[in-house]
Amino acid sequence: MKKIWKKLALIAGCVMMMSMFAACGGGKDENTIVFGTNAEFPPFEFVAANGVIGEYDGIDMAIAKNIGDALGKNVKIENMEFDSLLLALENGQVDAVIAGMTIDPERADAVNFSTPYYTAKQVMIVKEDSTIAKAADMADKKIVVIQGYTGESCVKEMKYEYEAFKKGSEAIMELVNGKCDVVVIDSATAKKYVGDNEGLKIVEDAEAFSSEEYGIAVNKKNTELTIRERMAGMWFWRAMSIFTTSAMICAPRLSASLNTKEEAAARLRFSLIAPPPLPFLFCHSTSAKSLLSVKEMV
Ligand code: ARG
Repeated sequence: MKKIWKKLALIAGCVMMMSMFAACGGGKDENTIVFGTNAEFPPFEFVAANGVIGEYDGIDMAIAKNIGDALGKNVKIENMEFDSLLLALENGQVDAVIAGMTIDPERADAVNFSTPYYTAKQVMIVKEDSTIAKAADMADKKIVVIQGYTGESCVKEMKYEYEAFKKGSEAIMELVNGKCDVVVIDSATAKKYVGDNEGLKIVEDAEAFSSEEYGIAVNKKNTELTIRERMAGMWFWRAMSIFTTSAMICAPRLSASLNTKEEAAARLRFSLIAPPPLPFLFCHSTSAKSLLSVKEMV
């Protein structure tokens, strides 16, 4: 009799422990995708009274919501410092990072990126009467960047001295108050800041700053590529993949690397896990509200 009680107690203990694991980290709630972001990057993510996902609004939040809708899952946002995002992804605190994050080789070494969904470039925000007309003019000026952003790497590469702030809004205040001469930041965000603050303008230098592409990041260990796979589950993308692959199978020796049906099938499997283009995601929105706010923002 005593043994039975012991066994029951053991089982109860195990169940309790398992539900604890399910509640925190590791085995997260199966029905929820946790997206990490840094909601300091309008129009991609920012805090608003009535956002697309709770208090979070912006283009990325609309995309995250679309992914959740396509998967039939809830979407949760973990707002943290930009610098902490990839670490949070690597240690499983979040399932994906959606943060206007530029795909760069160093980051791509640590995490997997979706196909790009937005092309941006670094620009300079200056006062309207500034003499800065190209990147080289920043040489003897007080430059402000945002910590961990690609803008910081660009200025670092140019070997200019700079000060790094944690938030774009703080950097802009510094400029508005005349405490610095230029802020280097991503183009769409710059446009938003210049629209919201009087007396500022954007200076571009396409030769000094090359274009960048944003992607959604997932953990490299996420071999199932859950999100990408399910995103690709949309009929349009599947139909496209099947069409192109069957065209490949039918066309004799179309490419040297695709001679056999097996290879073609492997290619098909690969194309199924690649995400569809962004506009399609938008078209597929089940949330009129998120579509509307995206339209207003871009
Ligand atoms: N595109 C830049 C980068 O990847 C800045 C991104 C900032 N994003 C944000 N959510 N704060 O470094």
